[in-house]
This record gives sequence, structure tokens and C-alpha cells, in this order.
Amino acid sequence: MAQRIEKVGVLGAGLMGHGIAQVAAQSGYAVVLREVDEATLAKGIGKIEKQLARAVEKEKMSQQQGDEVRARIEGTVHYRELRDCDLVIEAITESLELKLEMWREVDEIVKPEAVFATNTSSLAVIDQAAVTGRPSQFVGLHYFNPAQVMKLVEVVRCVTSSDEAFETALEFARSEEKLAIPTKDKAGFIVNRLLVPYMLDAIRAHEEGVGSAQEIDAAMKAGAGHPMGPLTLADFVGLDTLGSICD
Ligand code: 3HC
Repeated sequence: MAQRIEKVGVLGAGLMGHGIAQVAAQSGYAVVLREVDEATLAKGIGKIEKQLARAVEKEKMSQQQGDEVRARIEGTVHYRELRDCDLVIEAITESLELKLEMWREVDEIVKPEAVFATNTSSLAVIDQAAVTGRPSQFVGLHYFNPAQVMKLVEVVRCVTSSDEAFETALEFARSEEKLAIPTKDKAGFIVNRLLVPYMLDAIRAHEEGVGSAQEIDAAMKAGAGHPMGPLTLADFVGLDTLGSICD
């Protein structure tokens, strides 16, 4: 049976973290969003406020609804504010070393029954689960950029994940009106396993002079119906993140 989730902690307010926090708040959850310093936190919260203002402007939500969503998000630079979260989702830099260091600290602070989830693009979920004292309550929740728009969340079960934790994560993603697709703890899960080699091949095609960057992108948009060409998409994901995934 799924655990009850009321308060969600999000670690990292960057490209993915701010979107994950916004989606959770829009779905009615109380959210604690943690960043390393005030300036980075303000930047992430600023992005959320901009998205909400745009949604109000476009009449996708009322001013009152926008204000309510914003009020559900509490920003912090301290892990201690996460202590009573029911679910903690990490969306920090794609570095195993940094993630392990962070989980060791967070695990000491957050209540023992809480579920932990990583939004890693490609790292093994089990490696992160294993440094916590709660490997059975550890899963992957993989969102796609922009998290506010993309329908999919891959829900990753690692060898230690309990049925209850996995069910909790599936239910949570569904409660955000996402398409929750269960998958295994294999490099790249479903989407990145296919999408990352595709983006790399687009770079190789460019190197070989198969087409210019503009032509390769235009070809995939017009020929395969993709919303963005692979090279634009690589920039959109971030070449730093793409590099980390490939490594
Ligand atoms: N953040 C939040 N919302 C955004 C946004 C952003 N960065 N960019 C666009 N949007 C919203 C707009 O506000 C708009 O909302 P509305 O319909 O409510 O008005 C909606 O998305 C459509 O935006 P636009 O009309 O401006 O632009 P497009 O129709 O071109 O759509 C796109 C933009 C949704 C980004 C589209 O180009 C797309 O789907 N691109 C492919 C994205 C993709 O493949 N993402 C996956 C990357 S891989 C990944 O994330 C995995 C990781 O592990 C690497």
C-alpha cells in the first residue's frame, strides 16, 4: 500500500529541481526546496514565480491559485527544514560523489519513514540507496525537462526498493497527473537509453559533415515529427549534463 505524502522536499532548484518543486506545489503538496546558497535559491524560486505569473497571464490559473501554489513552496539553504518531509526528491548535479555526500547528511535528518527518490538521468539508483540507512525506501523518480510540461515520469525500482516505496512513488507521480512508467535500474532507464545515443549520433553526423547543425535539426523535426532537433535538444538538456550522462 502506498504511504501518505503531504510534504515533499526537493533538493536542488536548478533546471530540473525548480520544475519538480513547482509541479508538486501545483498538485497540492507542501514543498521545501533546498539549495546550497541564497543566491541560487532565489534564482530557482524566481523561475517558478515567472512561470506562475505567465500561467496567470495566459488564464491557465487565477491569481489566487498562483498565489496559493507559491505559498506552498518554502525555500531553504538548510537540510534541517526537510526533517518532516514524507518524500524527498533529489535533483542536484549529476555527480555520484556529490549525491552520496548529500544523502548521507539528509538521511541523518529526515524522519526514518520518509521515502527518498533520485531524479538521476543515468546513475545507478542502487548506489545512492546503499549509502542511506533506508535502502528499501529508495527509488528513482525521473522527470523530463521542462518538468512542468513533459508528461512522463519514469519510476525506477532498484533491487532494494520495497513494494510499498515503489507504490508510493507511482501513486505520487500519478497524483501529479504524470504518466508514470515503471522501469528497472538499468543505465539510462527507458528514455535516456534511447535518447542519449541519438543525440550523440547527431553530433557525430555533424562532425562527418552529413548536414549543418540547422539541417540536422530541421530534418529530424520535419522528417520524424520531433518538437526539437537533436542538437537543440542537447543544448536544452545542457551539454554539461549530457557529458555526465555519457561518462
Ligand atoms: N519551463 C516551463 N514551461 C515551459 C518551458 C520551460 N522551460 N518551455 C516551454 N514551456 C511551456 C510554455 O509555457 C507553454 O505552456 P502553455 O501551453 O501552457 O502555454 C508550453 O510549454 C509550450 O511552449 P511553447 O509554445 O513556447 O513552445 P513549444 O510548443 O515549442 O514547446 C517544448 C516547448 C515543450 C520544450 C517542446 O519544444 C518540446 O517538447 N521539446 C522537447 C523536450 C524534450 O525532449 N525534453 C526531454 C529532454 S531529456 C530529459 O529531460 C531527461 C534528462 O535526464 C536528460
